[in-house]
Amino acid sequence: MATISIINGPNLNMLGTREPDIYGAQTLQDIETTLKDLAKEHQHDITFYQSNAEHDLVNAVQQCKRDNVSVILLNPAAFTHTSIALRDALLATDIPFIELHLSNVHAREPFRQSSYFSDIAKGVICGFGPQSYELALLAALPLIKQ
Ligand code: DQA
Repeated sequence: MATISIINGPNLNMLGTREPDIYGAQTLQDIETTLKDLAKEHQHDITFYQSNAEHDLVNAVQQCKRDNVSVILLNPAAFTHTSIALRDALLATDIPFIELHLSNVHAREPFRQSSYFSDIAKGVICGFGPQSYELALLAALPLIKQ
């Protein structure tokens, strides 16, 4: 049994009411429940974390190293486009991670089309709404070292 950590950036705590035409009607709690069940089906555990603060997200990534987390699923939200600090944290921990987004960032404003994470991620999943999280979890399974 491995641990997969799901880390969520700013404003994702507002899912459900936040721009539902873009991000869907599910809450972050709904997504957490779905992922917990999906991970259990595959005999793995998840941790699920959200913060609006960059330093808390950096600390959460560093904690993954101490906790021997196998894979990180990261939706950096707006920090995707700005955060060198979070990028450096992922490089420092050297844990394989998947970048994910609910929306198709490539079909949106030009500033959303650059990411500080895509080139160092194992892969990127975006545009499938809440299902992006499930797809990312399934994509993480082969990355888990036995
Ligand atoms: C997002 C896309 C980002 O550009 C945006 O800032 C978010 C959410 C997504 O999941 O689609 O907050 O990461």
